[in-house]
Amino acid sequence: MTDVRTVSATHPAPGVLSRIFRTEQDGAPGDGHEQVVLCHDRASGLKAIIAIHSTALGPALGGTRFHQYASEEEALEDALRLSRGMSYKNALAGLDLGGGKAVIIGNPAAKAEGGDKSEALLRAYGRFVQSLAGRYITACDVGTYVQDMDVVARECDYVTGRSPEQGGAGDSSILTAFGVFQGMRASAQARWGTPTLRGKRVGVAGVGKVGHYLVGHLVADGATVVITDVSETAVNRVRAAHPDVEVVADSQALLASSLDVYAPCALGGALDDDTVGALTAAGTSVVCGAANNQLAHPGVEKDLADRGILYAPDYLVNSGGVIQVADEIDGFNFERAKNKATKIFDTTLEIFTRAASDGVPPAVAADRLAELRMREISALRTILLPGARRG
Ligand SMILES: NC(=O)c1ccc[n+]([C@@H]2O[C@H](COP(=O)([O-])OP(=O)(O)OC[C@H]3O[C@@H](n4cnc5c(N)ncnc54)[C@H](O)[C@@H]3O)[C@@H](O)[C@H]2O)c1
Repeated sequence: MTDVRTVSATHPAPGVLSRIFRTEQDGAPGDGHEQVVLCHDRASGLKAIIAIHSTALGPALGGTRFHQYASEEEALEDALRLSRGMSYKNALAGLDLGGGKAVIIGNPAAKAEGGDKSEALLRAYGRFVQSLAGRYITACDVGTYVQDMDVVARECDYVTGRSPEQGGAGDSSILTAFGVFQGMRASAQARWGTPTLRGKRVGVAGVGKVGHYLVGHLVADGATVVITDVSETAVNRVRAAHPDVEVVADSQALLASSLDVYAPCALGGALDDDTVGALTAAGTSVVCGAANNQLAHPGVEKDLADRGILYAPDYLVNSGGVIQVADEIDGFNFERAKNKATKIFDTTLEIFTRAASDGVPPAVAADRLAELRMREISALRTILLPGARRG
């Protein structure tokens, strides 16, 4: 292994270092990171950044993104943004885990296919994660798969999202979809006074790993389901399992189809000004889906609330996946993980209640509750464990 250092080896964009060191006094709540590590292994070509945003609640858990970034600075920005998001997600999920994330810079295809991923690179990465002695626990993210985590685990004890053959939890989309369904039931309770989607028209945009499981829950609950996906294979898989599901050409057609609930389950940024306009015109009153980072820009959450559209915060309702991989740390038990994911229902209702009483959109209430938990538990750990090592 070579070169474990605190940020200094590249030339990050101006202001990045000061943002890492920012405290709540001079920035927004949640700004600033505890530790950022640049990892470079010349032999395998590994270039990675591990960002630990917070260990206030426990070791930092978050996946490894393998992506061909345009620059190292862009990779650093992504690692900082994603690790901060994990602190909030893990806090609201009620996990005793902080927030972290790693990025590997490169083409995620296998070396044999012209990419950068190799056993040597993943193992070198595993040694870097191991060097943090459990302050950071990794998992899959975009560009990494359970098989990759099995390789990382050959060098490292702090890996989740491994294959069931290696004692891992396997596909996290099963509990992600289950959690989104719990969030949607809570939204129905808040909007229509009953925790069911029976008789409601629900539109699912993106029926990939998570979306197609969500469709199953909705059909079983008695909802009328409409779907769209750019992949014909994905659409056909749903059609084969649920012949009564309606299919429309694209997201615009879906939004225009008089939905009660819109479930974005494809890419981030699904909720922009045009979408909010379309939801309003169609009379849709709930948005609850699996996609990460649904709000395209700050202010959309307020616009939705002002128009009477109930938005269930994405990182709350899609936390079933992280609940699943977190359970793997103690030896995976599906029923125990599912029970924890069931609590997304109660937390979603609590967020709506707090949003109403504080007069803020649910997205703001969710951030506040996550920050409150991080502050309170952090203070508790300081009081109960004076001088103890955190994380
Ligand atoms: N898999 C998990 O456990 C998990 C956990 C938390 C959050 N998420 C988020 O949920 C979302 C879906 O994840 P996934 O694992 O199901 O991914 P996936 O790639 O399996 O599915 C995404 C689907 O969206 C479709 N799609 C892409 N662009 C589209 C468009 N413009 N219109 C309609 N469909 C489009 C794709 O063809 C694909 O079928 C992502 O935003 C992901 O970050 C996933």
